[in-house]
Amino acid sequence: MSRIPYEQLPASIHRAIADKTGTVHQAATAPGGVNSGIASVLETNSGRVFVKGIPADHPQVAAQRREAAVAPYLPASCPRLYWHLECGGWSLLGYEVVDGRHADYAPGSPDLPLVEAALVELQDVTAPPGIGLKDAVDRWADYAPPGSLHYFEGDTLLHTDFAPDNVLVTGDRARLIDWAWPTRGAAWIDPGALLLQLMDAGHSVEEALAFARRFPSWREAKTEALAAFSSATAALWREIAEVERTPWKLGMAEQAATLASIEDGNL
Ligand SMILES: Nc1ncnc2c1ncn2[C@@H]1O[C@H](COP(=O)(O)OP(=O)(O)O)[C@@H](O)[C@H]1O
Ligand SMILES: [Mg+2]
Repeated sequence: MSRIPYEQLPASIHRAIADKTGTVHQAATAPGGVNSGIASVLETNSGRVFVKGIPADHPQVAAQRREAAVAPYLPASCPRLYWHLECGGWSLLGYEVVDGRHADYAPGSPDLPLVEAALVELQDVTAPPGIGLKDAVDRWADYAPPGSLHYFEGDTLLHTDFAPDNVLVTGDRARLIDWAWPTRGAAWIDPGALLLQLMDAGHSVEEALAFARRFPSWREAKTEALAAFSSATAALWREIAEVERTPWKLGMAEQAATLASIEDGNL
């Protein structure tokens, strides 16, 4: 959806936010991201806060509520959620500000070890029960080859959307943001999702696979599981690119098809 500046939110929301933060002095719209109707860094009496929000009647509001529900369980590499407001027809989240820039995934980028460290930390987190997380088995059910869906089962907390504008890099650290699709599943799924983004940023499929193998979950996964992932991911992105033929989606579909062309034993 299109993004509006903070000033255009209704007065009732300005009041509700000021109740949380004290007077708001200034607001700057953040770059990147696609779903949030508002994404702004506010300067307030109690310090700075990043606010993202979406109209409460928007189909994506469920994703925003999942993001709020998972926040208390996230590791230190993720910014803290201060508050969640639902008022004036909007759903709003107030976060710790990360003074960073979007990650650069290009080959040789100094951001790559930082992104690796953030994902290593996340790989140890067990998906919390009872908060309405997505399940990897449900998400890949329509795409996994027959008889392979059980490989996606697991109890690791997964992010699954490593688009570079969902990772903010500060001096020495990468922070994972935008938890719209928190998912319970097999741990190797996240390195798999990241490797596709690396290909999109210019890595060869072999280089991206070498990066995925830095994660024990990928190294130790059954070949059949990784083969199921590569084929399901190709089917998923093919469908996404058919629904909307934007250059980015077509590019991702092409990367996924390249991954699926790799012999199972080389994954
Ligand atoms: N905690 C934060 N501090 C500073 N900027 C942020 C923070 N979280 C997100 N942003 C910025 O806002 C953009 C959109 O946020 P994101 O959570 O990815 O929402 P969406 O992609 O759903 O619109 C990010 O790409 C980033 O530039
Ligand atoms: Mg985003």
